[in-house]
Order: sequence, then C-alpha cells, then structure tokens
Amino acid sequence: MNEVLQAIKERRSIRRFKAEQVKDEELNTVLEAGTWAPTGHGSQDPWIVAVQNPEQRATLSKANAEIMGTTSDPFYGAPTQVYVFASRDNDNNVKDGSLVLGTMMLAAHSIGLGSCWINRVDKMSERDDVKALMKAWGLPDGLVGVGSLALGYPSAAPHPGKPRKEGYSRVIK
Ligand SMILES: Cc1cc2nc3c(=O)[nH]c(=O)nc-3n(C[C@H](O)[C@H](O)[C@H](O)COP(=O)(O)O)c2cc1C
Repeated sequence: MNEVLQAIKERRSIRRFKAEQVKDEELNTVLEAGTWAPTGHGSQDPWIVAVQNPEQRATLSKANAEIMGTTSDPFYGAPTQVYVFASRDNDNNVKDGSLVLGTMMLAAHSIGLGSCWINRVDKMSERDDVKALMKAWGLPDGLVGVGSLALGYPSAAPHPGKPRKEGYSRVIK
C-alpha cells in the first residue's frame, strides 16, 4: 500500500497528548498542508490560526466548554489548538474549511503528530471574547468558525478504527 493510503487508514483521533509543545517546523508542515486543500472556485477563502499561547488557549477552551456545558477541557490539554475560519458569505465555507481540517489531520498523522477535530467553533466565533481574539490575531471581519483541531504529540496509542459499515460505498456501472 502506498504511504498516502496507509496514512488515511492509520489516522485516528488522538485525545491524549504529551505536554511538550509541537516543534515549529512540524507545525508549519501541518499548516502548509492545510493551505493546499482544494477550495471551491480555488478561492483559498479559509483562514488557519494555530494558538499555542497558554492564556489564549485557556480562554478558548473555556469558551468551547461553556458552549458544550462542561468544565473539562474540550481540547484534551493539547499544547496547540488549530482553528479554521471561513467567510460567512461564502456558500462553500463549511466544505472548504472541512477539507482544510481533514488535510491537516492527515498531514499531522503522517509526521507523527496526533490530532482530533474539536467542534463548536461556529458557536465560539459568535462570542465576544472569541471575536476579540480573532481581531487581535489580525483576521478580517465577517468570518465564521468551521472547526478546530487539538494538536500535539500523542501520549497513548488510540483505539483501532471501527470496521467500515456494510454498503458504505458502491459502484454503479
Ligand atoms: C465534524 C466532526 C466533529 C467532531 N467533533 C469532535 C469533538 O468535538 N470532540 C472530539 O473529541 N472528537 C470530535 N470528533 C472526532 C470524531 O469523534 C472521530 O473522528 C470519530 O469518532 C472517528 O474516529 P477516528 O477519527 O479515530 O477515525 C469530530 C469529528 C468530526 C468529523
């Protein structure tokens, strides 16, 4: 099996991370991979923000936890949180942003990093505290959150993937 297909099958969501921060070179590899995801009309509309600042991570974790209605960290203590935003008025915003996230998850796995999609970023981007951070990050107005990743070095092996459901794909000739 070639390396791409192997990585697709091997990647699992990682929810336990070492405290060690992701090396800049590896983080940049993941972020750059995201920028090569296809986008509708080739718009390159999504925006990617990796947050390693501990205070900002705490603010963002709290915002996400409040939306979820928990007090635990929805990012599982990952040392890096990666956010993807896209324009509110782009009909393809969720599709474009989701492909960016999926591409980054695969890239992360391929270089030994662990990641997990973390939801509720659409709701996060409606909050004043998160909007203030988005402004501080230099993002333009009019964006909506698509999703985010917890990212770091895995500290435990994930469960094996579940078997794929019967009839998941079919070929009509
Ligand atoms: C749209 C989407 C939202 C998800 N949201 C969360 C989340 O908020 N928290 C979480 O721990 N995992 C989340 N996940 C990860 C899924 O639970 C995980 O991908 C699924 O159980 C399959 O496991 P695998 O990624 O190891 O193959 C999300 C995945 C997707 C695609």
